[in-house]
Amino acid sequence: MTVVNRLRVEYRDAPPAVEAERPRLSWQLSSTGRGVRQAAYRVTVSSGPVTDGGPLWDSGVVASAETVGVEYAGPALAPLTGYTWSVVVTLESGEEVRSDPATFETGPDADAWAAAEWITLPRTKYYHDDHRPAPYLRRTLDVDRPVRRARVYATAGGVFRLWLNGSPVGAATLAPGWTDYRFRVPYHVYDVTDALGETNVLGAVLSDGWYSGNVGPFHKREFWGEVPVFRALVVLDHTDGSRTVTGTDGTWEGSFGPIQASDLLQGEYYDARLELGDWCGTAGTSGDWRPVAVEKGPQGRLVAALIDPAGPYTELEPVAVTEPVPGSYVVDLGQNLAGWIRLRAGGPAGTIVRVRHAEVLNPDGTLYTDNLRGARATDTYVLSGGADVLEPAFTFHGFRYAEITGHPGPVAADAVTGVALSSLTGFNGGIETGNALVDQLQHNIQWGMLSNFIEVPTDCPQRDERLGWTGDAQAFMPTALFNADLAGFMTKWMDDIDDTRMENGALPDIAPCVVLEWAREGSPGYADAGVIVPWATYQEYADRRIVERHLDAGLAWLEYVRSRNPGLIWREGRNNDYGDWLAPQETPKDLVATAYFARSAALVAEQAEVAGRADDAAAARSLADAVAAAFREAFVESDGTVTAGTQTAYVLALAFGLLLPEQRDTAAKALAEDVERRGHVTTGFLAVSHLLPTLTAIGRTDLAYRLLLNEDYPSWGHHIKHGATTIWERWDGWRPETGFQDPWMNSFNHFALGSVGEWVYRHVGGIEAATPGYARVRIAPLPGDGIDHAHAWHDTVRGRVDVRWSVTGREVTLDVEVPANVAAEIVVPGLAVTEGGVPAADAPGVTDVVEDGASTRLVTGSGRYEFRAATPD
Ligand code: BGC
Repeated sequence: MTVVNRLRVEYRDAPPAVEAERPRLSWQLSSTGRGVRQAAYRVTVSSGPVTDGGPLWDSGVVASAETVGVEYAGPALAPLTGYTWSVVVTLESGEEVRSDPATFETGPDADAWAAAEWITLPRTKYYHDDHRPAPYLRRTLDVDRPVRRARVYATAGGVFRLWLNGSPVGAATLAPGWTDYRFRVPYHVYDVTDALGETNVLGAVLSDGWYSGNVGPFHKREFWGEVPVFRALVVLDHTDGSRTVTGTDGTWEGSFGPIQASDLLQGEYYDARLELGDWCGTAGTSGDWRPVAVEKGPQGRLVAALIDPAGPYTELEPVAVTEPVPGSYVVDLGQNLAGWIRLRAGGPAGTIVRVRHAEVLNPDGTLYTDNLRGARATDTYVLSGGADVLEPAFTFHGFRYAEITGHPGPVAADAVTGVALSSLTGFNGGIETGNALVDQLQHNIQWGMLSNFIEVPTDCPQRDERLGWTGDAQAFMPTALFNADLAGFMTKWMDDIDDTRMENGALPDIAPCVVLEWAREGSPGYADAGVIVPWATYQEYADRRIVERHLDAGLAWLEYVRSRNPGLIWREGRNNDYGDWLAPQETPKDLVATAYFARSAALVAEQAEVAGRADDAAAARSLADAVAAAFREAFVESDGTVTAGTQTAYVLALAFGLLLPEQRDTAAKALAEDVERRGHVTTGFLAVSHLLPTLTAIGRTDLAYRLLLNEDYPSWGHHIKHGATTIWERWDGWRPETGFQDPWMNSFNHFALGSVGEWVYRHVGGIEAATPGYARVRIAPLPGDGIDHAHAWHDTVRGRVDVRWSVTGREVTLDVEVPANVAAEIVVPGLAVTEGGVPAADAPGVTDVVEDGASTRLVTGSGRYEFRAATPD
């Protein structure tokens, strides 16, 4: 049986506000049958919940197997409107399958937003870290007619939590998130239909967040505004067809309350004695309520948020509580994460309880906080005198250990809960191998993602940095895309990158970029993210729009580099140039830079082709060829020896296709020889992501396994052996011989070196996209010494690919699951392959069976297959 499901609009299920003029629709076919394919589809979209008077748009029957990126092409969508849509699919078998209806809505346009103003509660001017009180804002809202649909569209300069009738609406999040608010301000939508009564109180608590709080190093804040501001539009659609719209304005009132200060880097100061009681209920309250001030607010365009705001992902119980110093309790959550703790505490009113956070401990069991630099990462609570449940509302910390001081009496483990914060809401890929090191590595990669995918892909969540470093992100992107659905997240971050673009074509080192203005003109391998990330995203989702949208920026970036370097060796305009960042062995920076120049030119050429811009494609292609030639001229001897001689140099030359065919062999041998001789990785952030894939490409998967499974320094295993639960920033972050590295730059939760995860999925798990968006998947696990089985899965835009293999003695098993409408190119690592007990060539749905050396290639359509084979003698 085949079902059409997972109807999504702009990659979201039933999005409550779609910004795109021509939203893209997608669906999946799910079926247990083999070789199930869509022959045609027909989409209908209607305005409102029911189809009366015919659909607004009917695609007609379209003969196509496409299920992804189908553009709505009907009349312009109206603001503040709900739509219903469905799809009827005709399978190649002739069977027709109809989806259930799905919905999406549009949000307010600029005209509608005009009914809402930015408001705040002015605070005394001379505040300090412990006194930047958070405004509590509210107004009453009477509803005089029955309501069919009620929505609050809300945003802030800062971060906010919406309240209605005495309770917070939804989870504790850092809405509206982080952008360069001068250009775009995201809003979120809250469905309050069921929570509304006749008389209501709508409220919001507001804090500095990124907007007016500390961001990045150097203890600087107020990058976008001095005080946080709030803006919301309440739209009530009544059952009689009428609509009431109420916006924030000067009629709101505000008071300060228990949150005396809240800052993403410094932490929160909460005085429970100042709680406002039922401040957002109808019962009236304490507090010093005054009219709010109407403010100018951020100037950026209000846009529907592409992602949910970062919020609690999961909760953890402590694994231990120690008391290294009398009265100072150290809680171990057993996991490095971004988030906070919730503490149940009681004690005399006015008692001050402090919670400090750290990733690691000193040998004496106290917190090691030197590597947090200027981030105080401290939550302070003043107890009310009753039973308090204490947790910060508008901050997060990167930590595994929390030190509690001032607590009256010992801290019991069950009085503490860890809350992990993330923009991610789950993973759409996984791999298990039974090898403890690799499984822990995968765990560390995913926890590194959870704690660093917070609005933007940040470098780290603990110290006073937490910025969207482009180099780190581009290197990690393929791994990230195997682990989580990032279609919205990367679309948003590419918008952030776009917002930094300079007239002269420069792309940035970080985005958003107001924080470190000097990073706006970016560096090799960093700024190139503006070209690399859209391409990686396109590979995963077949998303042409992200490619089209950033193509001009890519072309301008190439011109930025080219115009400064007519000889095509990237010497000028390298700006902050980080080289192959944190590599144990240095490689000349002009080599790394020129390799990236060629790489970006080649990727722009590919993207121009996808966008149907043949002239741009040809120009970028010939630039790529010319830069590669210049690279060879400057850095490569005629036989293929790369003079720098480092792993980084060889990896970039090979991975980016910069060598002549006749040079590749020498280069491959030299790389293999270096890895063999050292037995270790010597690459940094940029080249490490290409190291294992390059070893596999040159036929030395054995060496890739060796690096993967290494346990001595420098290696991933070295981190794991020393207790890592996330990926470390530096190969030598801590070593028994030398202790902690330089505290100025020593994070224990940086995803960048986790970029090895891509190789693990592709070659241990055996899953990769053979064509963009997985219309064809390649399944080709490469068993190696140390791993005799694996189970990998990935939810692609077309459904789940699942692969299990094992090698026992000479016996090979490979069980795969291919989603409907997808074809698989499979390489079974053995010969004499059977499927379901019959020779593969006779098995239904299996074609093109060819033995090739020690393995067998074959092709299947969708369905489940159980292959058995034998390795050669
Ligand atoms: C960040 C890195 C980043 C680097 C650039 C650091 O402070 O944490 O991850 O790539 O700066 O050098």
